[in-house]
Amino acid sequence: MKKTQLTLFFVFLALLTSSYAEENKPTTGETLFKQCAGCHGADGKNKAFGKSGILAGQEASDLVESIKFYKESEFKTHSSTAVMAKQVKNISDKDIIDLSSYISKLKK
Ligand code: HEC
Repeated sequence: MKKTQLTLFFVFLALLTSSYAEENKPTTGETLFKQCAGCHGADGKNKAFGKSGILAGQEASDLVESIKFYKESEFKTHSSTAVMAKQVKNISDKDIIDLSSYISKLKK
C-alpha cells in the first residue's frame, strides 16, 4: 500500500514538473529573436548600425512587411539592406510571424 502511494506521488510530481517546464519554455519568437539581439538589442531598442528604426513595440503587421522586404527585395545588395537581408534569407513565413508578434510585445 505504501509503495503504491509513493509511486503515485512521483507520477504526480513528474506531471507537475513537466507542465511547469512547458509553461516556462520560451516561445519560438523569443528563441528566434536571439539571432537579432546582437544588432537590435535584447530588448529591441538598439538602432542597428545606427541605421535601423527601434524594433520594440512596432506593429506586428509592419514588422512582417519590413522583414519580408529584406527577404524578398530586389535591392538587397545595397549596403545596410544587404546586412539585414542576410539575417532573414532562410526564415520561414511562420518564423516571420512568430518573430513579429514577439517583437511587437517588447516594451517601447
Ligand atoms: C548584423 C546586424 C543585424 C542583425 C543580426 C539583424 N539586423 Fe535587422 N537591421 C540591421 C540593419 C543595419 C538594419 C537597417 C537596414 C536598412 O538600412 O534598411 C536593420 C533593420 C531591420 C528592420 C527594419 C526596422 C525599421 O523599422 O527601420 C527590421 C524589422 C529588422 N531589422 C528585423 C530583424 C530581425 C527580425 C532580425 C533577426 C532575425 C534582425 N533584424 C537581425 C541589422 C541587423
